[in-house]
Amino acid sequence: MSRFHIHTFGCQMNEYDSERVAGLLIADGWERTETPEEADLLIINTCSVREKPLQKVFSYAGRFAPEKKKRPLRIFVMGCVAQQLGAEVIERAPAIDGVFGPGQEAQIPAAAAGETFPVVLNNTAALTDRELFPAAYDTLWQGSLSAPVTVMHGCDNHCSYCIVPSVRGGEVSRSAAEILREIAALSARGLREVTLLGQNVNSYRDPDEGLDFTGLLYRVAERTTLDRLRFVTSHPRDFTRPLAEAFARIPALMPYLHLPAQAGSDRILSLMNRGYTAAQYIEKMAMARELCPDISLSGDFIVGFPGETAEEFAATLELIETVRYDTLFAFVYSPRPGTKAAKLAETLSDAEKLERLNRLLAAQKTIMGTTRRRFLGREVRVLVESRSPRGDSVMGRSEHNQIVHVSGADISAVGRIVPVRVTEILENTLRGIAI
Ligand code: SAH
Ligand code: SF4
Ligand code: F3S
Repeated sequence: MSRFHIHTFGCQMNEYDSERVAGLLIADGWERTETPEEADLLIINTCSVREKPLQKVFSYAGRFAPEKKKRPLRIFVMGCVAQQLGAEVIERAPAIDGVFGPGQEAQIPAAAAGETFPVVLNNTAALTDRELFPAAYDTLWQGSLSAPVTVMHGCDNHCSYCIVPSVRGGEVSRSAAEILREIAALSARGLREVTLLGQNVNSYRDPDEGLDFTGLLYRVAERTTLDRLRFVTSHPRDFTRPLAEAFARIPALMPYLHLPAQAGSDRILSLMNRGYTAAQYIEKMAMARELCPDISLSGDFIVGFPGETAEEFAATLELIETVRYDTLFAFVYSPRPGTKAAKLAETLSDAEKLERLNRLLAAQKTIMGTTRRRFLGREVRVLVESRSPRGDSVMGRSEHNQIVHVSGADISAVGRIVPVRVTEILENTLRGIAI
């Protein structure tokens, strides 16, 4: 039997697509291996949101290129870089045998079984299909307790710095019926938690019934037996009161909200084409806290956007101080080909951008030290997913999406939601004892 390995860069959308491709290959008789060295087919799922993840693709592929001389190995590239670069992927790395953009994944099994290489498929026409490519639900997320489920793909927002709309196409929502079918298949196999995915889930609209995203959340909560429901990402401009209310009204909806701010200066937000001011963003976060007082807040930030002055960067730090996140993700601005922002002259050196990033992360570390202290001594409910790498405990996630290492429970706790007393707040995780 032939074996394949998929290595995934990028966001949860890519994790989801990788799993679906794995399902198609397994249905075609392939065996999955977690060891790339053992694979006959190595698939790299790629991200082009910043230059660094794009370059990682080529260094990863480069590592395996010499192996092709020793054994029959095919290397395929799928995902956002495949879409962005098309045939250029092979010009840059001739060891790559196949390039499949989003919407072309269903062609991977046939291409792998075929004899003509290289294959380059990055036609954007498929990006308007509701179901980008088919799924073999029975084979997805074997042995997992938690999985993502894409509810929409593409994005219509055109934030000036972002390449996603050009590689993933415009927004297309899946039908609620299909989403429910997928979740039902997963929960029938013991899956407990689902994260609904989209680049901007707030603009979800069921193509058959017109149900909006809040409606979809209620529908999923009503019609499935999931213990936990989460979603990413919402756009601050479209984050509404009814959606915030859902946190209070849907018991399965976990108290965690990821709402990317990107910057704290109104001038920069406007140049980014984000469609809100810092004050409006702060108001949305306050609304979420009002309706779900203990909610864990998270956000994304870009530092060093072209023309960002010291005062404008200070406004970002101020916003972070005001919101007091539990977690955040920050990135150095990376110009992306074809975007509006890429035409703006860069005003900061790499060292200056990095210095801002480090200052932001240091500020967040201090804030997190206090915001997360509220969990100390508290009883939290942990969905135990695996043994801890240290071996003497198990680990899982709390309702607030924090990773918790749990002692006083053994491997038999895997798959259960266990009450845990938090005894220690570590830098990125919590430690506790099963009660
Ligand atoms: N659709 C989601 C996520 C988009 S990509 C959203 O809008 O929130 C994830 C994050 O990558 C973004 O939130 C942004 O912070 C960052 N990002 C996107 N383009 C970038 C760029 N050109 N340079 C640096 N960071 C970028
Ligand atoms: Fe990119 Fe903006 Fe769409 Fe997010 S909302 S994917 S940042 S264009
Ligand atoms: Fe990256 Fe594509 Fe996701 S560019 S962030 S993998 S949508």
